[in-house]
Amino acid sequence: MLENLFSLKGKRIVFTGAAGVLGSTMCHYLASKGATLILLGRTLSKIEALEKEIKEAGGNAICYGLDVTDEEGLNQLQEKLADKFGEIDILINAAGGNMPGAVIRPEQTFLDLDSTALKKVLDLNYMGTVLPTKALLPLMLKNGKGNIINISSMAASRPMTRVMGYASAKAAIDNFTKFLSVELAAKHGPDFRVNALAPGFFLTEQNRTLLTESEGKLTQRGQQIITHTPMQRFGNPEDLLGTLHWLCADASAFVTGTVIAVDGGFSAYSGV
Ligand SMILES: NC(=O)c1ccc[n+]([C@@H]2O[C@H](COP(=O)([O-])OP(=O)(O)OC[C@H]3O[C@@H](n4cnc5c(N)ncnc54)[C@H](O)[C@@H]3O)[C@@H](O)[C@H]2O)c1
Repeated sequence: MLENLFSLKGKRIVFTGAAGVLGSTMCHYLASKGATLILLGRTLSKIEALEKEIKEAGGNAICYGLDVTDEEGLNQLQEKLADKFGEIDILINAAGGNMPGAVIRPEQTFLDLDSTALKKVLDLNYMGTVLPTKALLPLMLKNGKGNIINISSMAASRPMTRVMGYASAKAAIDNFTKFLSVELAAKHGPDFRVNALAPGFFLTEQNRTLLTESEGKLTQRGQQIITHTPMQRFGNPEDLLGTLHWLCADASAFVTGTVIAVDGGFSAYSGV
């Protein structure tokens, strides 16, 4: 085992939210290490384009258009993957994000909370992690081993202003990660593990206008974040790859139930 500690060759990885900014960087990387990527995304044209790019770069990939909150669609996907691959090795739940209506803006109060938008953001981030896990776990049980990696956020452990629904949903993902790690190891054995990766602040399309103004100048919120990040910068998607690789590989075989921060020190810093 020691010589293959970091090998990802031949691992069959289902990846939700694959065409996202962080997701696509991760998928390209994992494919470049010899994994087979099963790309899931809501917008078929985007994941088709990603599949093509990965193949052109010499990697293995196949894509399926699917909404992660569609339980029936996920069950049908399970059947398709059982026919095509038999089993899978890893599930990475990366579909998620905040939604414009689900924030409490500075000029609003809690009483202005839009409960419909709140439900949508909980549905995407929390149910959108739980449902793919439930639907695809049987393909890991068939394999006698399984590895699930959820994507959390800094907002999970310490709520942030404005993004209440997103933060609550990511907190629920941390809790689910720990719950499921215990549940699977206890009932299915030590070869089943569940962890989460918690990115710090990465400048992406979702948060660009929240963190920067035109010409890249920081907003007040962007500046507050940088001030609170000992490494004094936003993350680049590539900063996540080493930790992701380790979580996917046998090198982390005894690691389960953890939420690993990749945040430039944000979560360690008290502010003084
Ligand atoms: N960008 C950041 O700074 C940051 C920080 C912490 C955590 N995260 C988390 O990392 C993950 C990836 O983030 P990203 O920046 O790549 O986001 P992104 O918005 O670029 O990508 C998210 C992807 O999920 C897909 N998606 C959205 N709703 C879906 C649904 N219902 N069904 C299937 N797919 C759906 C989108 O089409 C998109 O491709 C998310 O869970 C996000 O919350 C991001």
